[in-house]
Amino acid sequence: MGESRPLSRSEALQLGPGWRHACHALLYAPCPGRLFGVVPLGHAVLMQMRFDGRLGFPGGFVDPRTGSLEDGLNRELQEELGPGAAPLCLAEGDYLGSCRVEAPQRLVTHFYTRRLSLEQFRALEEGATRAQEHGLEVMGLVRVPLYTLRDGVGGLPTFLSNAFAGGAREQLLESLGILGLVPEAQLSEAVAASPKSPD
Ligand code: GTP
Ligand code: MN
Ligand code: MN
Ligand code: MN
Ligand code: MN
Ligand code: MN
Repeated sequence: MGESRPLSRSEALQLGPGWRHACHALLYAPCPGRLFGVVPLGHAVLMQMRFDGRLGFPGGFVDPRTGSLEDGLNRELQEELGPGAAPLCLAEGDYLGSCRVEAPQRLVTHFYTRRLSLEQFRALEEGATRAQEHGLEVMGLVRVPLYTLRDGVGGLPTFLSNAFAGGAREQLLESLGILGLVPEAQLSEAVAASPKSPD
């Protein structure tokens, strides 16, 4: 994966036909539980184990010539998360930003975030095995551990050393900060403590 550069939505939509577009979304919900009755979970954040063994966000390729970015995103969310994703109906208000990468192919990725209630989040998880792509593009859903355990490595630092698809790791880190799901200081500590990751 080459270097990724941010660009505005309108710049992205003006790129020529040599560019492919993809939309992915971070869905999250406040989560009052405590691990072992002690460690606050904070929020549930949804990612998926993909067919290629990497972690990524639900979403996929879209064609801005045949519909809006959000139409394409909502179609991908239903394919990958199941019919339970239909009522989510992500919109331009959920848009966070876009990045472009030149290699291995010219690709613009658009990223979205949406806060759900824990009930909505659990309903998505429960319906996910009925998704069209379950067992195909999507091997299963995971929640991201947002805490760092007392050893300084368990939890988010170790999670970050998984293999991620495209810019998913950067999207995760950026949005955890922007959404205030993990304090910035704890985020940079987690990145620094993350055991060396595969590519
Ligand atoms: P197909 O229908 O099999 O083509 O898959 P898809 O439409 O679901 O596409 P996919 O989700 O794999 O995303 C399209 C491209 O974006 C891929 O080439 C990945 O490299 C990249 N990608 C996949 N997941 C993510 C993600 O979570 N974030 C970012 N930034 N890129 C991703
Ligand atoms: Mn136990
Ligand atoms: Mn897909
Ligand atoms: Mn996908
Ligand atoms: Mn697709
Ligand atoms: Mn597909």
